[in-house]
Amino acid sequence: MTNKPKNGNGSEIFEPAAEIVKNANVQEYEKLYKKSIEDREGFWAEQAENLDWFKKWDKVLDDSNKPFYKWFVNGKINIVYNAIDRHLKTWRKNKLAIIWEGEPGDVRTYSYHALDREVTRFANVLKSMGTKKGDIVTIYMPQIPELVFAMLACAKIGAAHSVVYGGFSVEALAERIEDANSKVLITADGGYRRGKIIDLKNIANEAMKRSPTIEVCITVKRTGHEVFMENDRDFWYHDLISIPFANNKCETEIMDAEDMLFILYTSGTTGRPKGVLHTHGGYAVYTATTHKMVFDIKDDDRWWCAADPGWITGHSYIVYGPLINGSTIMMYEGAPNHPYPNRWWQMIEKYGVTILYTSPTAIRGLMRFGEAWINRHDISSLRLLGSVGEPINPEAWKWYFKEVGKEKCPIMDTWWQTESGGFMITPLPITPLKPGSATKPFFGNEVAVVNNKGEEVKVGEEGKLVIKSPWPGMARTIYKAPDRFVETYWKEFEKQGWYKAGDSARIDKDGYVWIIGRIDDVIKVSGYRLGSAEIESALVSHDSVSEAAAIGLPHELKGNAIHAFVILKAGLKHNKELEKELKEHVKNEIGAIAKPEAINFVETLPKTRSGKIMRRVLKAQALGQDVGDLSTLDD
Ligand code: WT7
Repeated sequence: MTNKPKNGNGSEIFEPAAEIVKNANVQEYEKLYKKSIEDREGFWAEQAENLDWFKKWDKVLDDSNKPFYKWFVNGKINIVYNAIDRHLKTWRKNKLAIIWEGEPGDVRTYSYHALDREVTRFANVLKSMGTKKGDIVTIYMPQIPELVFAMLACAKIGAAHSVVYGGFSVEALAERIEDANSKVLITADGGYRRGKIIDLKNIANEAMKRSPTIEVCITVKRTGHEVFMENDRDFWYHDLISIPFANNKCETEIMDAEDMLFILYTSGTTGRPKGVLHTHGGYAVYTATTHKMVFDIKDDDRWWCAADPGWITGHSYIVYGPLINGSTIMMYEGAPNHPYPNRWWQMIEKYGVTILYTSPTAIRGLMRFGEAWINRHDISSLRLLGSVGEPINPEAWKWYFKEVGKEKCPIMDTWWQTESGGFMITPLPITPLKPGSATKPFFGNEVAVVNNKGEEVKVGEEGKLVIKSPWPGMARTIYKAPDRFVETYWKEFEKQGWYKAGDSARIDKDGYVWIIGRIDDVIKVSGYRLGSAEIESALVSHDSVSEAAAIGLPHELKGNAIHAFVILKAGLKHNKELEKELKEHVKNEIGAIAKPEAINFVETLPKTRSGKIMRRVLKAQALGQDVGDLSTLDD
């Protein structure tokens, strides 16, 4: 192996292996990057040519109404036509599209032909239920193939989907259904997690009570346990798709490039989660291009993005990007350590997975079990690895590189966001790597680290990460809240027209970007994104809580863990039971990922004179750090 660490700039550099470089889809970075910046529209037009359009665009980029950019103006396309239909006309018709394994060990596989049959059947069912172009269908499912069918069936008929992660609970689901005003909900009776059944249908029933917009709920039978089904509202998926008309042909709807493909709710600094909106055209071009170039996709690859389709990672890199590229994708329903910590390695060996894309939190979790679990398996099929979700600590990077990649697989540490649609800062397989750095911007993207005045900070200094140029995969707006879109991302550097990422970062003298973390009230727990405000409102919805604040504090496995500060209602006393009850309450309202690590009962909370909780003060205190400027503190 030619991958050898050497020293430079105080951090190790891992040069790419010769055979990786020799066969890489992209052979050169600097020159192509320069070209892509000088002629951004030309670069993206060339990439868009790789997709099938019903009608070609008139103009690549319309920036006449910033920050509401439009891409591939007047182009007509459907992402499903690119992800399925076009492959049916080639040898890929019989190629495996999906290899799926359930946690209990059941296996299902679908060729592109079979995938088309499933999606068509479901699309016909949705149509018969009255689902139309422009409607938003909410999907709340475990990681089973029907989740992918449901997303694609919506897109095929021009409806948008709003996937709510199956780990979320009643309140999180209810408020997302309500915001999207969904009339149709697709769910399952349950899913498996560490041998237990997650009772999704029950949670969905509760959520439907709270948000009564749902007229039709379609339930996939996965676990087979008894669930409540309401007459005239609830239907079994298997009943509907077996009605003969479901087999009819279903034309893939012709969409405008800028038509809504999906919304995906994500947490922000304040208030309720926001529905980040992505489109058929630009998003298709961006996910397919980044997937193919960064992960060097070849036709014989077996691609495994071990995220959940309920998050943007899954939307872009389990479903859309890979299927557009005609890849074989691997999906696994359950936990990495069930029944034993060798589960992933076993599946990599069994299916000959060639690329594994996962999160630092999963890597740290598997690292804890030790490499003996890996070494029982032949995982030599792997040729590339990936990481996403939060900064990867160099120790975990090196373990991943050595023990999983056997020092031959480069690690693509991809920095991006729900809002960006796809990779923004990322290595290519040819990039010399520095453990912990997402390296350099992807083609077409200009990034900088700036101070509050918008001046670039000095080399190596920390500042705010901004993106200076538009890209096709960028979110178009926040659903029903364009003002919030402007306010959240574009207001601070309005004069310059830059996108504020919400992260702090530094850039070293080689131009490598090092992400430090969020600078707003977003908390990344195990790579999942949560807002302080959501956790606080869940706490305050409990009868005994008067006020609450939530912050993230460093945690060895999770990256960050949630610590809550609670003021009880007058006259109430805290005890261990109440602490436990409050933790459970948050879990029941939002989901297990939001359950606080610790709850501190306090008499007051540090606030500004205008009444805003100063979470940074709580955080500094908890970490024993200097609390900084307190001039705005009330009292
Ligand atoms: C935030 C976005 C994009 C898919 C999953 C997360 C953090 C993401 C990295 C990385 C350091 C990262 C950032 C970002 N983040 N990838 N490779 N290195 N930090 O999407 O839930 O929208 O979260 O995740 O803080 O802003 P998301």
